[in-house]
Amino acid sequence: MHTRLVWDLPLRLFHWLFAASFTGAWLTAESDTWLSLHTFLGYLMLALIGFRLIWGVTGSHYARFSSFLYAPRAGLAYLKQTIKGTAVRHLGHNPAGSQAVFLLLGLGLLTGVSGLFVQGGEEQHGVAAGLISPVLGTIIKISHEILAQIMLLVVAGHLAGVALESWRHHENLSRAMITGKKATTPTAPAARPHYFTGLLLVLAVMLFAGWWFQSPDHASNIALIKKPLPENALWQEECGSCHQAFHPSLLPARSWQAIITQHDRHFGDDLGLDTQTARALLAYAIPNAAEHGVTEAARKINRSIPPKDAPLRITLTPYWIKKHRAIPADLWRTAPVNSRSHCAACHRDAHTPTVLKMRRYTPPCVKRALISRLHTTALRLTCGSSPCLPAATQTLRRRHTRPHASPP
Ligand code: HEC
Ligand code: HEC
Repeated sequence: MHTRLVWDLPLRLFHWLFAASFTGAWLTAESDTWLSLHTFLGYLMLALIGFRLIWGVTGSHYARFSSFLYAPRAGLAYLKQTIKGTAVRHLGHNPAGSQAVFLLLGLGLLTGVSGLFVQGGEEQHGVAAGLISPVLGTIIKISHEILAQIMLLVVAGHLAGVALESWRHHENLSRAMITGKKATTPTAPAARPHYFTGLLLVLAVMLFAGWWFQSPDHASNIALIKKPLPENALWQEECGSCHQAFHPSLLPARSWQAIITQHDRHFGDDLGLDTQTARALLAYAIPNAAEHGVTEAARKINRSIPPKDAPLRITLTPYWIKKHRAIPADLWRTAPVNSRSHCAACHRDAHTPTVLKMRRYTPPCVKRALISRLHTTALRLTCGSSPCLPAATQTLRRRHTRPHASPP
């Protein structure tokens, strides 16, 4: 018996990377904490499918789609024959296996693309940001989840098929997908190894992963594919001197109205705004307020507030309270956090208003303190003058040195 190369290197790499990205994305689907990894794996899967479509035309013999095109019925017939033990052995994809290939590629494409629209709609982030509404995003999310479950079923069927076929034909098919080699006759066509293309594929995946995960907490890739929120220089100037300028999307219009109206009694400070400035600030705040739902956080904050309430603090809205319930009280009072209003201590994007996402930007030292049961000690030991905290943050202590906010 002769052994020959059947699966070329790029095809094998594709197979295992595709399997890993689907498995990883499936496992990280439920939790917000893993969303960045989940989206990375989604993009990776789409890129891999793109590569496979090209390789299906340009790859070596057994990788080409033309070498395993069968009528839909042939797959079912082959399955029946395999169960009966009468199926003939195929060197490349058999009719049932080939249908799993096409199904998985199609489902992977649909799942990935629907994922892009979930991200673009629900979160207004990623390549599809701004293309569809948040409500449509939520509807697409349902199909995204259904598609992923169907894909899982097909994967299960594929694994069962591989096991059955390996048993019937006394050959380890999964090992062949690692080594690429199968026992055959000397006359059967052999595949070319294509080491160079394989190397390029690995390099491309590594570059993409490096780019995605290059910065702490993935802030920069979010910045690169963000849809910016509207910014306003006057707002930054008037409301960004004592604390970070909170983005208007974090409170409803009626709250901003109340805050600006009561500017002479602003948490113990007098903001000293003249009528014209107050009007100009509201002209920016109201069209961008929470009810316009420009971000996921805005929609959820807005939904959580009873219509009759106009909270003066973001930190008093039910959604904010719910999301920060797990944070122990002593952590709020310890440097570098100091106050609930000091969002930037934990959310890296809090002082870059255009990329407001308020998610998972918790600096490593705060994260450690959250995990540790000795929060204050952990913070003191690991944060200190930590470079992991955003430098541009102004703490609320500034108000003692600068009682009025009227800009110089
Ligand atoms: C003179 C300093 C100063 C200026 C200027 C200032 N604030 Fe404040 N602001 C404060 C203080 C002090 C607090 C209370 C912080 C705390 O309790 O930790 C506060 C709290 C807030 C909060 C509540 C934060 C929370 O806990 O959810 C909002 C909202 C707010 N300010 C909006 C504004 C807006 C809008 C402007 C611009 C019109 C502005 N602030 C300008 C001093 C200032
Ligand atoms: C001590 C650290 C800390 C501070 C300070 C803080 N947060 Fe958070 N925040 C967190 C953590 C941790 C989570 C994640 C909770 C979770 O995953 O459920 C979170 C979650 C959120 C979310 C939900 C994100 C989502 O995925 O929907 C929003 C919105 C948010 N914070 C806004 C704010 C705002 C606005 C401020 C300032 C007024 C603030 N946070 C201050 C730690 C902090």
